[in-house]
Amino acid sequence: MSKSTDEISLPFQEKVLPEVLRHRVVSVGEYMELHKKTTENYREFWESVAKDLEWYRPWDKTLDDSNPPFYKWFVGGQLNASHLAVDRHANSWRRNKVAIIWEGEPWENGPKEVRKLTYLDLFREVNRVAYVLKEVYGLKKGDAIGIYLPMIPELPIFMLAAARLGVTFTVVFSGFSSQAITDRMNDAEAKLVVTADGGWRRGKIVPLKEVVDKALENSPTVKHVLVVRRAGIKVNMVEGRDKYLDEVLSSVPLNVYVEPERVKSEDPLYILYTSGTTGKPKGIVHDTGGYLTLLHYTMNQVFDIRDTDVYWCAADIGWVTGHSYIVFGPLMEGATEVMYEGALDYPEPDRWTSIIERYQVSVLYISPTAIRSFMKQGEKWITKHDVGSVRLMHSVGEPINPEAWRWFHKHVGRSKIPFGSTWWMTETGGILISITPGGLLVPMKPGTNGPPIPGVSAEVVGEDGKPLPEEQKGYLVITKPWPGMPLTIHKDPERYVKVYWSKFPGMFLAGDYAIKDRDDYFWILGRADEVLKIAGHRIGTYELESALIQHPAVAEAAVVGVPDQLRGELAEAFVILKVGYNPDQKLKEELMKTVRENYGPIAVFKDIHFVSKLPKTRSGKIMRRVVKAVATGSPIGDVTTLEDEAAVEEVKKAYHELS
Ligand code: PRX
Repeated sequence: MSKSTDEISLPFQEKVLPEVLRHRVVSVGEYMELHKKTTENYREFWESVAKDLEWYRPWDKTLDDSNPPFYKWFVGGQLNASHLAVDRHANSWRRNKVAIIWEGEPWENGPKEVRKLTYLDLFREVNRVAYVLKEVYGLKKGDAIGIYLPMIPELPIFMLAAARLGVTFTVVFSGFSSQAITDRMNDAEAKLVVTADGGWRRGKIVPLKEVVDKALENSPTVKHVLVVRRAGIKVNMVEGRDKYLDEVLSSVPLNVYVEPERVKSEDPLYILYTSGTTGKPKGIVHDTGGYLTLLHYTMNQVFDIRDTDVYWCAADIGWVTGHSYIVFGPLMEGATEVMYEGALDYPEPDRWTSIIERYQVSVLYISPTAIRSFMKQGEKWITKHDVGSVRLMHSVGEPINPEAWRWFHKHVGRSKIPFGSTWWMTETGGILISITPGGLLVPMKPGTNGPPIPGVSAEVVGEDGKPLPEEQKGYLVITKPWPGMPLTIHKDPERYVKVYWSKFPGMFLAGDYAIKDRDDYFWILGRADEVLKIAGHRIGTYELESALIQHPAVAEAAVVGVPDQLRGELAEAFVILKVGYNPDQKLKEELMKTVRENYGPIAVFKDIHFVSKLPKTRSGKIMRRVVKAVATGSPIGDVTTLEDEAAVEEVKKAYHELS
């Protein structure tokens, strides 16, 4: 959803000052002065934050920048993420405090299942699973496992258990299909995969184990599968490979203790795959010490987390938002949080408001797509419940349009609480640009992200890498190292350098367009590359094209993103068929089904058009830019490198005839 500067200039005038006095409200000037100090001395600043964590061994060097861009934070330090998120609280007064209030999706006059896990419960479960991974499967530091689970407590438990052993984990979003699992398990060389028989989604069971079985046909490194019983459906169990988790756990003592591995600060915690412009998803490798430092800081400054809060991040753990702000961030802070399994509007559009009311949610983290869908359903679903417990909110994943911001701020935020739009991405590990109500709150403006957080240096630059004047659209870059930055792309350090650090040497290229306004607030406008954001889900055009080509009728395909009022963006495909296939509605539906099966249901197409030619460069590369211009009705631009100009007319004709 990219916008011109003109379109968004209006909300600049409107500044909403929250009435809530607990947040120290400061002027932008005052904030920027402080920000300057923290970024000039960013090493000392982040060092002071990292001191709050419990380290087995202190670091010798705050930042090793001897081999850029492969920066290492807190070198020499040793710690353990599972110890910080679980043991510390289980050994404190928080022992019996609720860590996770889990609510299953099934509903019968109320939620059918609610599980409350205290920090002691979590400690116990994490230890027992760690015992299984270590003693039954012999996994150790340096090994990798795959996790393909729905939003059930076993998901954070397995992540924490792996972290306890120094075992790297790769979570695959449970909305992805088998190809995504195969690719990720092979790249990560996972030895074990944990999944569930099935998961609930909108009242239906998604057969997860079946998807894993198909995926593992081509994943030779995976020798073991653990299956959590969730849906109670019968699944195929492969002798010698597959076991039910409850059966394995039945022989593990209740209070078994597994000593946390003392990992190095720069040891990898997890690999999370994310879409880029070309090729297969990139395995972003996050470290331990830097990553947890950024989460600790943002949980406090951005979310103002307190022991009295009930925090709810309504994302899926399969994406980075859930890794950082459902699992490691809030648990490390000893928070009480809600974890919800299913769709926010199931069985009725007030499921989410009923959750807020029943658990008295006070801090809410949610996506603009969800907000827009609530808006469509109307405020009656909000007023049906008491949402007065909410005292702070943030959105994430895509730009939030000022109308949606205002509507949500009015109806959930009672026009007075802090409400931000936190910008970050899989690669950054945690929030980098956001208002910070936990510390110093600057005036809010609907639709903006706000200034970078303390310690983070961001800029908007032009093609020449020089900072642009205010209100000019350019590339968003991070100009100094920050804790939480990637270690590398798994098995492909050259790609890491090429994708993020080569367009503007010495600066991290985020891949977004942004502008900075006269108050130094950032407005992230959307992706500057060919990555789609469908309902906030990051999807590569290349991946959808590859999924389409799996169908025998497809010779070639070009996918582009087009704006959508509800989901932010949708995919639009232009397909060349092989000889002998009929370009009809039936085939279109079949193609959409192929994508759902090969990629997953999150790929939502606005339409598929059949063409006989696609605009290409003389070297044979599809010019998606041209296809996109046709699909969005914008100027085609320079076509001098086109191999055959008639292809543009062909795409135009197909688009206008069939849409
Ligand atoms: O385009 C930006 C958008 O989401 C991208 C990162 O996607 P992903 O790695 O899946 O992580 C999403 C959750 C952190 C960014 O390049 N984005 C994320 N948050 C915002 C945003 N765009 C505008 N405003 C935001 N608050």
